[in-house]
Amino acid sequence: MTSDTVDLFSDTALAERVQTLRQQLQHHGHRYYVLDEPEIPDVEYDRLFTELQALELAHPELSSADSPTRRVGGAPLVQFASVRHAVPMLSIRTETDTLATGAENFDARVRRELGLTPSDPPVAYVAELKFDGLAMNLRYENGVLVSAATRGDGEVGEDVTQNIRTIRQIPLRLNAAAVDIPPVLEVRGEVYMRRDEFEALNERQREKIAHGAKGEKTFVNPRNAAAGGVRQLDPAIAAQRRLSFFAYGLGEVTPATQGGPEFNTHYDLLMTLKAWGFPVAEQTKVVRGAPELVAFHQHMGETRDQLPYDIDGVVYKVNALALQRQMGFVTREPRWAVAHKYPAQEQLTTVLGIDVQVGRTGKLTPVAKLAPVFVGGVTVTNATLHNEDEARRKDVRIGDTVIVRRAGDVIPEVVSVVLEKRQGQAEQFTMPRQCPVCGSAAVREEGEADYRCTGGLFCGAQRKEAILHYAHRRAVEVDGLGDRLVEVLVDANIIRTLPDLYRLGLTSLAGLDRMADKSANNLLEAIEKSKQTTLPRFMFGLGIRHVGEATAKALARYFGKLDAIMNASEEALLEVDDVGPVVAQSIRTFFDQAHNREVVEQLRACGVTWEEGEPAERAPQPLSGKTFVITGTLPTLGRDEAKDKVEAAGGKVAGSVSKKTDYVVAGAEAGSKLTKALELGVKVIDENQLMELLNGGA
Ligand code: IVH
Repeated sequence: MTSDTVDLFSDTALAERVQTLRQQLQHHGHRYYVLDEPEIPDVEYDRLFTELQALELAHPELSSADSPTRRVGGAPLVQFASVRHAVPMLSIRTETDTLATGAENFDARVRRELGLTPSDPPVAYVAELKFDGLAMNLRYENGVLVSAATRGDGEVGEDVTQNIRTIRQIPLRLNAAAVDIPPVLEVRGEVYMRRDEFEALNERQREKIAHGAKGEKTFVNPRNAAAGGVRQLDPAIAAQRRLSFFAYGLGEVTPATQGGPEFNTHYDLLMTLKAWGFPVAEQTKVVRGAPELVAFHQHMGETRDQLPYDIDGVVYKVNALALQRQMGFVTREPRWAVAHKYPAQEQLTTVLGIDVQVGRTGKLTPVAKLAPVFVGGVTVTNATLHNEDEARRKDVRIGDTVIVRRAGDVIPEVVSVVLEKRQGQAEQFTMPRQCPVCGSAAVREEGEADYRCTGGLFCGAQRKEAILHYAHRRAVEVDGLGDRLVEVLVDANIIRTLPDLYRLGLTSLAGLDRMADKSANNLLEAIEKSKQTTLPRFMFGLGIRHVGEATAKALARYFGKLDAIMNASEEALLEVDDVGPVVAQSIRTFFDQAHNREVVEQLRACGVTWEEGEPAERAPQPLSGKTFVITGTLPTLGRDEAKDKVEAAGGKVAGSVSKKTDYVVAGAEAGSKLTKALELGVKVIDENQLMELLNGGA
């Protein structure tokens, strides 16, 4: 827009627009810089900022001293002491043209300002990463860290020394190096949080929230988590954030005339900082001319997902410090540097719906269906909302405008809702109480964040997992039915539920990938063989949540018959050793699903049988209360066989030796477990002695 196209009427409209933009920028700047809780993504802020800048440039009569375009950052919080920077902390010009032209324009500008002609050699630059964190000034006196301050408004920052001391990467005392350490040295750089630390932090926050912690929240992005950490009044909390640091420049330094260092290039300076003990990004390098700037921008753009931290661009700085001095500054930005941005990793989009997906193990996850948006290098149409609490905390509703973030190879996430843009009357999200795939009850156990489908045997989403579990060596055991084969059989729709396994024939197997006649026959034989099983194996094979092998055995021993277990009340189940309220409820819920009972009936109808017993006479068992560890090769018993015998006699078998171990059964070539047993003075026995114990001997 130019002034000569504007008439009297639109002049008023223009002034109003400028006013609105300033108010919006002030509001969002405060949210971002002071509160660390932005409501809009950075790109949106940049867009408003650029629009205001353009309007002020075209209409100087509208400019004003208090415009957000005139200042660098936010005001310091009251709680921290203020620090006046000896040398102001400047900002750099941002090149929002994310294409090669962004770099080319910068080089052209530098050459023009230095008065170079096309025949002059290319300018040398240092190409750096633009870390997405917060700027920090570290002051060292005689090599010792004395203070650390945020940028604040560029003139006055906050004293956050206590928190910064918790960052392991920041030296508290400088290393001696080839260049003497000056009496006064201020190092500037970026405090940031690695993506894995950010994910771990948010995971911990989600846990806390799920367990009812008050006043906890998840963080929008690593930058905000880092900023929040630096501004913690309690340094112990700051330490838990596990922040990192990269150095990229200097503040006040003792002048060369008073014994300070003298650098010729920015690169020398960085390498000296490295020698003194500061982290300097290894990607930093000297490049020459526009083509090499472009190549660096492009290469980092392609590989930024593989970095362990977020960058939002790269930075070019004229390498020769004499040339930097020659070029100087415009207002608060050096003419010799530019930040060349990348396409944003956060964008705005709208929520078209909220689906609930069921995972292989029955976990229900709410997923926001989004209007397609290009963010972090891919088009995103789905974003996880994790669980019910998260979805409600973020209060994402259909029709909402939301900030979506995708950084690195992390799955896309809805960061927050832009509440001002909410128009519809959509309701708050509630988790369905029924599995959206199979209709079985979905339950959330106490202390858990997730809802789970209880239709384990019947649910289409859990088919593969259920079949694999049933076929497991220690369950019903179908030899040869592993991961890959289950994948093929289920995907080809040959098996939908467990009983389908027993309806397989040669014809349905023929023609399957990698299924020769011989392997088909072997599989059918293994399936046939699996029909003869035991009640504990069958119970375990059903894959009821919380019913492991030991519980399955205890149930079988106590009730004797499957029907008795299926019909037992929670109270009756609680009578069984090792069965607590959570397990009892889980068993009851499982058998309350008509679908699950149906599958059990069909399995029996297909010929799956076991020897049923009588309910246990609660006679004391020879090994009850004793814990065994089995190690090495026993002369006659297999390891699993020995385990079964010990458990059948009421004993427990553990995987490692501790002071609580009663006996270590050692066979040939027993290794570290035997050594450990001898160390701890645990009784070591052989197979014969085990047999004696099993027969009731002492
Ligand atoms: S140099 C005079 N180099 O981006 C130049 N800044 O406004 C001062 N940033 O506040 C900054 N990576 O927080 C520089 N390699 C880098 C940077 C970097 C990130 C941040 C810094 C600064 C903002 C630019």
